[in-house]
Amino acid sequence: MRSASAAERVLGLLKEPPGEPDVTAGYLDLLGPSTQPSPSLAQSVMESAFLPQIYERVWRPVGFNLAKGWPIGPDTATEQAMTRDWLGLSQPGRAGRPAATVLDVACGPGNVTRALAEGVGRDGLVAGLDASRTMLARAVADTAAPGPGDAGVCYVRGDAVDLPFEDASFDAVCCFGALYLFDDPWTAVDGMTRVLKPGGRLIILTSRRPLPLRTARLGGELVRRATGYTVFGDREVTRALADRGFTGIRQHRYPLMQVVGGRR
Ligand SMILES: C[S@@+](CC[C@H](N)C(=O)[O-])C[C@H]1O[C@@H](n2cnc3c(N)ncnc32)[C@H](O)[C@@H]1O
Repeated sequence: MRSASAAERVLGLLKEPPGEPDVTAGYLDLLGPSTQPSPSLAQSVMESAFLPQIYERVWRPVGFNLAKGWPIGPDTATEQAMTRDWLGLSQPGRAGRPAATVLDVACGPGNVTRALAEGVGRDGLVAGLDASRTMLARAVADTAAPGPGDAGVCYVRGDAVDLPFEDASFDAVCCFGALYLFDDPWTAVDGMTRVLKPGGRLIILTSRRPLPLRTARLGGELVRRATGYTVFGDREVTRALADRGFTGIRQHRYPLMQVVGGRR
């Protein structure tokens, strides 16, 4: 494990802590060997051995930055600074970083998890949750053990649509580049809302349908059926947060992506 005390703290946040936690792979594995086959083409790609090797350096910057409208849209560093800001965290190197408890849902190889940890202080905790063993192996390999002033980081293998944490466990929840992969995105948003403390903050970066036309909706539906990838309209995610009682909802729209945040 990257940090034994972080793992112990995460175990303390679980609804049903396992009697004998499996941390043999360097992350806390709550799914075990009995996982269902990959539910969609998109998720099968996420579970391949190859993608985690190129994800952070190639796939993420090229794919996401283009979808965000590069060179006008935010690059990865700008996106990370904005994320910490919207979540009420600090910025790297600043004094007085908060002792926040943060959950990174569908953390992949830990690229966003590490960026979140840079905005959290020594007594803080950042948990990265993902279902893919190959992504989590990469996350563990790429995350250095915390220094004396750093937040603890712990990776968990679990289901984002059925979060394993107690209610009101986290000050901030982040879900980037994954809501469109979930078989039931709105149940996932219910879970993210549930695990947030009152006043806690949520941020979601997901797909965006650039045209509100009926043909674009039909095209999106065909893509979803063929690949499992959901394309969200401009009002769908903001409405989902409003329906769940979030306040201060804000949204940035990019050509093919949107970022939505709010406070519980
Ligand atoms: C594109 S990566 C996103 C990584 C990172 N959050 C980012 O923004 O770059 C999507 C991740 O979602 C994970 N994922 C998809 N469905 C999931 C589920 N139901 N539970 C947990 N993780 C899931 C995949 O395994 C994959 O690692």
